[in-house]
Amino acid sequence: MSQINYDELSFDDEDELKFPRPTRQGFDEVVERAVSRRGFLGGVLAFGSGAAVMGTGLLSSTSAQAQQASRFAFEQLAPQTDGTVHVPTGYDWDVLVRWGDPLFSDAPAFDPETGIPTEGSDRVFGENTDGMELFLVGDTELLVVNSEYVNGGINLPAEQEGQPISADDVVRLQNFQGVTVMEIAEGDSGWEVVVDSPYNRRIHHRTEMLIDGPAAGHDLLKTNADPTGTMSLGTFNNCGSGRTPWGTYLTCEENFNGYFGTTAELSLDEATAAGFARYGISTDVDPGRYNYHGFDARFDLSKEPNEPHRAGYIVEIDPTDPTSTPIKRTALGRFKHENAASVVAPDGRVVVYMGDDERGEYMYKWVSRDVYTPGGDTSTLLTEGQLFVAKFNDDMTGSWIALTPEDTGMSEAEIAVFTRMAATQVSATTMDRPEWIAVNPIAIEAYCCLTNNSRRGATNDDGSVRTNAAGEPMVVNAPNPRAVNNYGQIVRWRPTNSDHAASTFEWDLYVMAGNPTVHSEGLYAGTANINEGNLFNSPDGMVIDSTGLIWIQTDGDDDNEGDFLGMGNNQMLAGDPATGEIRRFLTGPKGCEVTGLTWSADRRTMFVGIQHPGAPFPDGEGALPRSAIVAVKRQDNALLG
Ligand code: FEO
Ligand code: CA
Ligand code: CA
Repeated sequence: MSQINYDELSFDDEDELKFPRPTRQGFDEVVERAVSRRGFLGGVLAFGSGAAVMGTGLLSSTSAQAQQASRFAFEQLAPQTDGTVHVPTGYDWDVLVRWGDPLFSDAPAFDPETGIPTEGSDRVFGENTDGMELFLVGDTELLVVNSEYVNGGINLPAEQEGQPISADDVVRLQNFQGVTVMEIAEGDSGWEVVVDSPYNRRIHHRTEMLIDGPAAGHDLLKTNADPTGTMSLGTFNNCGSGRTPWGTYLTCEENFNGYFGTTAELSLDEATAAGFARYGISTDVDPGRYNYHGFDARFDLSKEPNEPHRAGYIVEIDPTDPTSTPIKRTALGRFKHENAASVVAPDGRVVVYMGDDERGEYMYKWVSRDVYTPGGDTSTLLTEGQLFVAKFNDDMTGSWIALTPEDTGMSEAEIAVFTRMAATQVSATTMDRPEWIAVNPIAIEAYCCLTNNSRRGATNDDGSVRTNAAGEPMVVNAPNPRAVNNYGQIVRWRPTNSDHAASTFEWDLYVMAGNPTVHSEGLYAGTANINEGNLFNSPDGMVIDSTGLIWIQTDGDDDNEGDFLGMGNNQMLAGDPATGEIRRFLTGPKGCEVTGLTWSADRRTMFVGIQHPGAPFPDGEGALPRSAIVAVKRQDNALLG
């Protein structure tokens, strides 16, 4: 048994433990920059590795912010440190659904101490709720929700310390993850799941999926069970979400690497070994986080070295047809996908923005070849087109670089499977962990949460600069200007000619989180739209509502001490794109991450995800903590965005 406590280890730390990053001599590669530029908010942004020379005044987002009336309809919530959810005065919250709640009347009952048994574990709402979207079929409201991962220590018997000890345990864990489709309705006692709705469905780690796009049928995707390389089982580590203009759901496979392992020493070909190293697929003979490979040969790399090449994609699901087969869209690349933000360009082509959430990885964009026509053929829109990666320049311009065979030296299929390596070939910009991207529906602009990167600008004991998984030194750069970035920032871009399909853009930082009460000046104080009242760190989830307000969800350090003093538990804040004003709206229970946001069809309810609560939320003392979706309403039933 491994001595590692996986419930306490982040996915990035796990990867670095198993694949120590190469070091590169070259302290001189750290470029001392002190570039001052004007951002979209009208103020002057300052960038550089020398935090001490940057006063917070330089980061001011102008006094216009103070002069304009606030667009927010609520009073700011104070930071909280307890074990429950809080919303501002005038609002209420209630639990819509929690992990283990039945989708069907034959589902097993939830035991508050032991949870759900394996039999029937695919008949309940999944664990660790994440991205979600709402779809309408007539008046019927379907909520589609990701279940990102499992906490073995909660989902398995306590004495097993988080580790599966049988094939039965593995099936239980596989069933708790993936995607839930469920009908919901609002009745006299609030919102509830419609048990036994014909739309209710669980998609998990063994659900049949079609593989589409340039990687489909390639040798890299062939396995003993699927010698065609076109039909895989399961979708993994479903993090953020997206929706297409034609009404399908996009689920995004993030830390898929952690599900694979080996029971014997491996002898791999060069390309596969390089791919495993770049994507963090462990080659140690070790149970790892989930130990699927100990009991399910499909996950054992000594038997199926190509199985990991079949995960790490965007998967399209039609929630309105419970018999539909999900489709893995390999054209949109293979990496640790956070979410997928779609928008239709002026000429009708479909654009999908995507982030790769790992320290020093990149931001991507897909542009379809064909145009979207409502009611028309959509079958090629996520298959035929071009994948690009982002390059940010210090002069606050940027470009999308096409990942083509000519420029990468890789085939279309290799670009789809080893997308990270293709992007490195064209000198993409290393980012501070791109999490959710959101497109503003009322302005031609988009935003990406860069959650944090404690390795940015940091050095090893020998003085060499910390690198990403490709060995690229993570020196500070313009959109990631802070060394040892524990707070995170949100970058915003506006495409050239107001066209999201354009290959160039201008950018600024909408906010750099920080703590001006602990750091009176410098980059760690954050931008001027951060103040004592709205402190937060590690922006992660992000959705822009129909009125153009930005909702920011956090997944950060909630110990409320030191650099994080005054921030309290993880939270959701609202931001005004025009003024930069940010105000705290909701706080989660201690230990949780707030992630996933959507609205009821009448937009009078917000659904907010509470993932991995540390406290026994929502059932109280003595009960297992349960990830849950809460429904938030205004007491006067007003619109909520
Ligand atoms: Fe699943 Fe990057 O968050
Ligand atoms: Ca996230
Ligand atoms: Ca996160």
